[in-house]
Formats: sequence, C-alpha cells, structure tokens
Amino acid sequence: MNQIMPPPKIEIIPSSAPFSEAQRSWLNGFFAGLLSDAPTPLSAEQGAAVMQDAAGDGDDGDAPWHDQTIPIADRMKLAEGRPLQRRMMAAMAQQDCGQCGYNCNDYSEAIAGKNEARLNLCVPGGKETARMLKSLYEEIDKAPAAPLSAPAVPVLAVEPGRSRDNPIAAKFVSRRLLNKKGSEKETWHIDFDLSGCGLDYVVGDSFGIFARNDLGLVDQIIALLGASHTTKINGKTLREVLIDDVSLAPAPDTLFELISFITGGSYREKARALAQGEDPDGDAATLDVMAVLQKFSGVRPHPEAFVEALEPLQPRLYSFSSSHNATPGKLSLTVDCVRYVIGKRKRLGLASTFLAERINPGDELKVYVQKAHGFALPQDPKTPIIMIGPGTGVAPFRAFLLDRRATGAPGKNWLFFGHQRSDCDFFYADELNALKTSGLLTRLSLAWSRDGDKKFYVQDRMREVGRELWTWLAEGANLYICGDAKRMAKDVERALVDIVAQFGARTTDEAVAFVAELKKKGRFQQDVY
Ligand SMILES: Cc1cc2nc3c(=O)[nH]c(=O)nc-3n(C[C@H](O)[C@H](O)[C@H](O)COP(=O)(O)OP(=O)(O)OC[C@H]3O[C@@H](n4cnc5c(N)ncnc54)[C@H](O)[C@@H]3O)c2cc1C
Ligand SMILES: NC(=O)c1ccc[n+]([C@@H]2O[C@H](COP(=O)([O-])OP(=O)(O)OC[C@H]3O[C@@H](n4cnc5c(N)ncnc54)[C@H](OP(=O)(O)O)[C@@H]3O)[C@@H](O)[C@H]2O)c1
Repeated sequence: MNQIMPPPKIEIIPSSAPFSEAQRSWLNGFFAGLLSDAPTPLSAEQGAAVMQDAAGDGDDGDAPWHDQTIPIADRMKLAEGRPLQRRMMAAMAQQDCGQCGYNCNDYSEAIAGKNEARLNLCVPGGKETARMLKSLYEEIDKAPAAPLSAPAVPVLAVEPGRSRDNPIAAKFVSRRLLNKKGSEKETWHIDFDLSGCGLDYVVGDSFGIFARNDLGLVDQIIALLGASHTTKINGKTLREVLIDDVSLAPAPDTLFELISFITGGSYREKARALAQGEDPDGDAATLDVMAVLQKFSGVRPHPEAFVEALEPLQPRLYSFSSSHNATPGKLSLTVDCVRYVIGKRKRLGLASTFLAERINPGDELKVYVQKAHGFALPQDPKTPIIMIGPGTGVAPFRAFLLDRRATGAPGKNWLFFGHQRSDCDFFYADELNALKTSGLLTRLSLAWSRDGDKKFYVQDRMREVGRELWTWLAEGANLYICGDAKRMAKDVERALVDIVAQFGARTTDEAVAFVAELKKKGRFQQDVY
C-alpha cells in the first residue's frame, strides 16, 4: 500500500530575514506557490475537456474576437460559452505578434493543455490578460471530460538562437540616429554582427533581444529597499539580479500582495486592492516597481522576497530591416525609442533605450530569431508587392527590398512610407530614392502628417492613388502593413476596403469580403505592434 507522505517543507525565506515565524511561514507558502509553476501535463480526460474544438462542443472554430482593436471585455463577451481554450485565446491581445513564442491560438492551446505554465507572456495584453488567464486557468481542473482532440504542443524550437527559451549571443556593432534636427522622434538604425554565432534569418521574421535594466533605476530601487547592492541572491548580487533578471515595469500583483502582507492599516488595504486589480487612488496604471516603493514609502521588503515577487524580464522583438541574402552575417533593426514622463520622473522603455544608449559597440547580447506567423515575401518572386509602413513600419520593407534586389526577384515593388515631417523623419531617404532610380522600387508614395495644417497619413495617399492600387491588386499583388496596431493598421484596412469598393465596383460588404479573402489566401499580411 502506498504511504501518503506529508508535503516537503519549503524554505525560501532565510531564517535570518527580518520576519516573524508566522510571516516567514506565509511567505514561504506564497513563494512556493509561485515557484511550483512547472507544468503538470493533463490527464487525457482533462486535456480533452479543455481542448474541445469544433468537433462536438458547438464551437464553430471561428474567432470573432481576433482583432487587436477590440477591448478585452468585449472580446471575452464574444467568446462567452466557448470552450476554455477559446476563451483563453480571447483574453490575449490578438496581435499574433510572437512575443510569447507562439501565436495567440497556439499559446492558448498550450496553456489549456497544461504544456505552458507561464500565464504572463502576452506583452501587448499586459496585466489584464495575465489576470484573465489566471482566473480561466483555475477552471481547468473543473472542466468536464469530453473526447480528446489534438494535444496542445508548445512551439519551442530547440536549435540555439531559434526561440526565446534558447537564445544565443550576438555582437552589437553600432547605432545611428535616423531622424534629423527638428524631429520630435528618436529612431535608431542598429547594426548587429551575427558572424560569430552563425545565425541566419529570413526577411519578415523578427529579432528577439534580452535587454538589461538601467543601472540608475536599479540603484534607486536598492536605495528605497534600504539594502546593499552586494546582497547575494542565488549566487548573484541584488544589483545584478535587478539589472539582468527581473522586470521593473509595470508592478506585478505579487508585489502588491507582498506589501499587503508586510504592512498594516491603510497601506495594507490599498496594496490588497491593487493586487486584486482595483485602483484605489486612480494611479494604478502609472505604478512601476520604483513607483510602488515610493507610494508605500518606508516599506522595505526583504531583498529576496522582493525579487521573488517580481516578474522575469521578457525579451522584446524588432523586425529585421536587413536581408541575410544581401548581407550575410549582419543584421539591422529600426528602433523607435520609448521615453515618457509621469509626474516628475522620466520613464524609459526597457529595450529601445537599452539599444539607444546602454549597449556599447563590441558588447554581446542574448538574442534569438522569432519566426513570423504569416509575414513573408511571396514564394513566387514575380508577384508584385504593395508595402504600407509608416514610421518604424518601414523596417521589414527595407529588408524586403534589399532581399528582392539580392535575389534578383523580378516582381514590382510599391512602398507607402509616412512619418511626421519630410525634412527630418524620412528614414533611409537616400537608399529608397536610389532604389527607385535603379527601378527596383517601382513606386514610392510618401505621406507627411505634420508638414501641413491638416494631418495627412499613408491611407490618405492610398486613396489618392486608389485606381492604380486596385490595378496592382487585380494583377495579383500581395499587400503588407507594418507598424502601429491600435490605430494605423485598422485605418489603412478601412481605406483598402473603400478602394476595393470604389475601383473594383463592389458594394461595401463585397469589398469587406474581398479583403477578408485576400487575408485568407495570404495575400494581405500584417506585422503590427
Ligand atoms: C513582431 C514585432 C515587431 C516589432 N518591430 C519593431 C520595430 O521594428 N521597431 C520598433 O521600434 N519597435 C518594434 N516593435 C515594438 C518593440 O518590440 C517594443 O515593444 C518597443 O520597442 C517598446 O519596448 P521597450 O522595451 O523599449 O519599452 P517597454 O519597457 O516595453 O515600455 C513600453 C510601455 O511603456 C508604456 N508607455 C509607452 N509610452 C508611454 C507614454 N507616453 N505614457 C505612458 N506609458 C507609456 C506602455 O505601457 C508601453 O507598452 C515590434 C514588436 C513586435 C511584437
Ligand atoms: N510598445 C511601445 O511602447 C512602442 C514602441 C515603439 C513604438 N510604439 C508604437 O508603435 C507605433 C509605431 O511607432 P513609430 O515610431 O513607428 O511611428 P508612429 O508614432 O506610429 O508614427 C508614424 C506615422 O504614422 C502617423 N499616424 C498616426 N496615427 C495614424 C493613423 N491612424 N493612421 C496612419 N498613420 C498614423 C504618425 O502621425 P502623427 O504622429 O503626426 O499623428 C506618423 O506620421 C506607435 O503607435 C508607437 O506609439 C510602441
């Protein structure tokens, strides 16, 4: 007969830490829970219950919520009554951006099949997606049994440098500012050397990088903790852990939980409320890790408990703006720098400012190639392409053009580029003009939003040349959009529908169906973020 063993006692908080026995016991339990993340594969019955698909459960396999502009509450409504895995997908940000290492559907299948225990990987969905996934995850074990469909398999590549879970080191070479004097933007052309690591890539894919936090921010946090930066945590110093391993923005619910436990009174109430997604002071959206320590001033969590309560640092993706076929062993990115001010404090986007100012030529960085989910040059090199990429959206299209030149692809190429001002924000102007003169770039259409009194965007230029655009589409051109997901991509798609309706002599409904069909056939592809 099997003997039932008591669960092993887990000691994460050292006995030297400044907690009472009761506090230490609670914290040990709390962190043991966090650390017991290792996925336990489901039994066949449980897997079946959560993986129900179109077969037999009334789910039509369609995903009407799969639109990055629909707010999460509306997406969850659209998924009501659907199997758990489909509701998990609806909780994600619907960008299929690849930052989690999957597309939205595969990530939800992996979680529902208990092949993926990390519920916080959806970067564009942020905390609201993580919270929703957490609550849906609790339903897994309650789900009733049903016939099993295909098991969810995580899309993990094993080859080094081909997945976020297996990065390799590449050498940073240089950076060059693309904006000229007078610009309101700060966008960098970044070069890496891949010759040392032997990594190659295909245009349309993106580059994953593991950036490091700003030392100044880290040292301010250490000062607020009242700790020494040399405090050892799992063999590393506190400073090293805060620079390399954990995210310092936004503040995770677990940090609020920790604070609620080690404080009392109104601090405890507020921290508890914040941990539950409430916003007692109307400042929840502004709370990064340092702002939390300032808000709950004087609260000094033990460094080890503090670090355990933070989220792991996530990689960031950047579209390749170079072509391996054109320049093997080299790669470039086009990176817009994220800086903003909240209150009196300057906030730094982690990876963009790392590439803009904290990495030096010759430094090595952990990187990987993220395969795009349906964003690539057409297989037939004769196929014409129309590329719409304002701002950093031009990145993959520079790569497409360089690749088509290197491989001698005869297809016609039309680029729509736009930005704020023609005299200071025309990225790669000399190169693009030279490609046009050489005939490789058949058409270059430009839109400057702040040159005149009225905003003028790429879709306004598209409408002006709608007849020719329709002709290209009718000839079989592929159409691509890259850049801002929230507004630009939707507005450009709307303009496309109007152009199809007007010049393709269709009703609006027929034009919408035409554009949907282009997507289905892979002739309309998007890389938006
Ligand atoms: C497939 C893919 C390709 C991409 N390609 C490119 C590319 O080619 N070039 C490029 O520049 N980017 C690209 N991105 C975006 C890129 O991955 C990062 O998201 C971006 O650089 C910001 O990362 P960060 O680490 O610098 O900022 P983070 O530390 O992630 O900070 C960004 C966050 O700060 C907050 N924030 C930003 N501005 C403000 C503000 N004004 N007020 C308040 N809060 C604010 C928002 O919450 C925002 O999500 C791509 C993304 C994907 C998914
Ligand atoms: N995750 C992040 O935090 C992060 C990092 C980098 C970039 N981004 C976002 O990613 C997007 C791309 O940034 P970017 O630097 O490449 O360029 P951008 O800020 O999107 O600007 C590029 C051009 O697009 C115009 N534009 C604004 N709204 C538009 C719309 N609805 N339709 C068409 N064009 C529109 C802009 O005009 P105006 O500005 O004059 O209106 C500008 O001329 C932005 O939304 C940016 O905020 C986010």
